[in-house]
Amino acid sequence: MAARFGMVGLGTMGRNLVLNIADHGFEVCGYDRDENQRKITEEAGKGKPVSTAASSAELVAKLETPRIIMLLVPAGKIVDAVIGELVPQLQKGDILIDGGNSHFIDTERRYQELQNSGIHFIGMGVSGGEDGARFGPSMMPGGNKESYELVKDILEAIAAKAEGEPCVAYMGHTAAGHYVKMVHNGIEYAVMQMISEVYGLLKNEGMTNAQFADLFEEWNRGELQSFLIEITAVIFREKDPETGKDLIDLILDKAKQKGTGLWTSESSLELNVPLPTIDIAVSMRYLSALKDERTAFSKLYDHQNQKTGTNLEALKNICRDALHFSFMLAYAQGLELLQVASANYNYEIDIKTVVKVWRGGCIIRSVLLKDLFNAYEKEPDLTNIIGSTQFSGVLKEKRKAIVQFLKTAMDAGVAASSISSILNYFDAYTTERLPANLIQAQRDLFGAHTYERIDKPGSFHTDWPYTPAEAK
Ligand code: 6PG
Repeated sequence: MAARFGMVGLGTMGRNLVLNIADHGFEVCGYDRDENQRKITEEAGKGKPVSTAASSAELVAKLETPRIIMLLVPAGKIVDAVIGELVPQLQKGDILIDGGNSHFIDTERRYQELQNSGIHFIGMGVSGGEDGARFGPSMMPGGNKESYELVKDILEAIAAKAEGEPCVAYMGHTAAGHYVKMVHNGIEYAVMQMISEVYGLLKNEGMTNAQFADLFEEWNRGELQSFLIEITAVIFREKDPETGKDLIDLILDKAKQKGTGLWTSESSLELNVPLPTIDIAVSMRYLSALKDERTAFSKLYDHQNQKTGTNLEALKNICRDALHFSFMLAYAQGLELLQVASANYNYEIDIKTVVKVWRGGCIIRSVLLKDLFNAYEKEPDLTNIIGSTQFSGVLKEKRKAIVQFLKTAMDAGVAASSISSILNYFDAYTTERLPANLIQAQRDLFGAHTYERIDKPGSFHTDWPYTPAEAK
């Protein structure tokens, strides 16, 4: 029997998706150059409608038409190589899905390159890691709507479900799917950085790992309920099998990255969207990597890690509310970028659909997404939830906690860059008159860049009474 779905790349993600697809009754054929990966897949797929192919030609021959082939190979040149190998063997109407974390610019290019061949190209973000792939990921496909309709039944069957609805939907034109996934990852970076800062301060005040595990479990029952809070509780309970010590204490404090956070920041700078918390989350990963320098510099100063003696119970509540405030505005930054990018690149992304797809299966799934959905449903023209009637009350109330959190962190000499960026973002975004008038005056003085005025329209230049010392 011909297979309905083809998969190229049988690493853990690809293999788990193959098994997930087969579990839902679809015949699936996987191809990987590596014989070992094919063997593992065959073994795991025993008793299921799973087969493998030893070459792309064999894969193509085994699929029913129109062929649906998904690529789960490392982003970059390999994607181009696989597409280049497959395309001559495909026919008009066949569908290629790139399910990796490809850069949206590459997806845009590949989409355009395939336009004339009649082969459909879907750039699709897949989130949820290995477990998500196996038991229900969140998926963000983009391209043309007709291609999506051809694969919709399979994707909806294998997706995570939130309130009974599949966590997959058409995101928009060309590279919209990979753009949405990139922003998802940017938010992921910000939330992880914020959680680590709260950990840093509470650890400084003497909290034990067992207490952290209890606290994160408790938080996961309230307004912070989310995948990242849930897994953090699990991490704090883990022991190192060799030493019996808490594993978290043995892990080196250097955070790595594959680039999607950086891409989000780059894109926001290009589109003039303020995204300070994702920027700082990327920078803090770089700073964490400077371990040798940090170790050397730490010896020159003595302001760090001072116990403030703040009441721990009170501080825990402050941290919870500061995180709640921060989570809301990290998502707000990402969603605002999505809106601007959508308008700029003609993606036609619907924010409510994005928020719905993120409710389950993905790394940033959180109870907060329900509130975000409601806010955008009530006020479809919302540019940022700071301006929403639904969020303004809670933001006003929780601002006090983030101020308290930051005062304590500063007294302790514990860095909290992302959380402080959130407060500064909020304070600036809710201030009618910023001191930017001074920047305009300076620009005009040294470069005749002109300025606008508050009392009349137009562009103005002043002959400022300044003479450089060298000219006197
Ligand atoms: C997901 C994740 C995933 C990402 C990792 C690692 O949605 O499942 O976003 O796609 O690759 O989180 O990202 P970094 O290595 O950049 O931290």
